[in-house]
Amino acid sequence: MSVGEDYINKVFPHNGVFEIILGTSGISENLSPIGIIRDGDNYFSKIFRNTLTYYNLKARNSCIINVTRDPMIFYKLLFNEKSPDLGERVYDGIPYLENSISILSNCEEVEVKEEFSIFKYRFVKIVNEGAIYEAFSRSDSLFIDLLVHVTRLDIYSKEELETYSTVIQYEVKTIARLSPNLLEILKDLVALINAKGLKISL
Ligand SMILES: Cc1cc2nc3c(=O)[nH]c(=O)nc-3n(C[C@H](O)[C@H](O)[C@H](O)COP(=O)(O)O)c2cc1C
Repeated sequence: MSVGEDYINKVFPHNGVFEIILGTSGISENLSPIGIIRDGDNYFSKIFRNTLTYYNLKARNSCIINVTRDPMIFYKLLFNEKSPDLGERVYDGIPYLENSISILSNCEEVEVKEEFSIFKYRFVKIVNEGAIYEAFSRSDSLFIDLLVHVTRLDIYSKEELETYSTVIQYEVKTIARLSPNLLEILKDLVALINAKGLKISL
């Protein structure tokens, strides 16, 4: 199925940042959580250069954008936990997720910044429409935000760490209250966060 403007407008309904899972394959097959930025009809990602995603895109500029609302998929792929319920599949050598909307795209490096590069997407084709519509959970959104903070602990300045520790504490407490199914994972994350010098409690 080709990618119509109406379809893309439904998937990414406004300007700003959306969280997706990017499938890449230039060096080795990989699926990672990545933010996609919509600016009018243009779609970009900022990809940090110390990641496999970056090296993969430099080696092969095709990728698959996977749209999912399942926070566990973000968690598992961030920590490289392989499990059959991820539903990993492969299209033309590129991994995608069977329970997502998966859009094959061209992904070109258009700008090189100090720590990351900006890649621009050109949508080619929808290769999978396996998304299931779920009820909205605000805790899921907080959980995704918490994961982003976890990936940035090493690059935050002292001042940023002070500011964000309040946010992280709020997110941990609220996620624990609204999504008790995530308690065990929260324990692991709190241990990881506190190992970086913060004092977060569950
Ligand atoms: C919700 C979410 C969004 C993220 N967005 C980005 C992003 O836009 N760019 C990026 O380089 N890393 C982003 N990350 C961090 C990468 O997923 C992380 O660095 C990952 O370890 C890269 O893995 P790789 O080396 O397998 O590519 C994000 C992480 C999460 C949880």
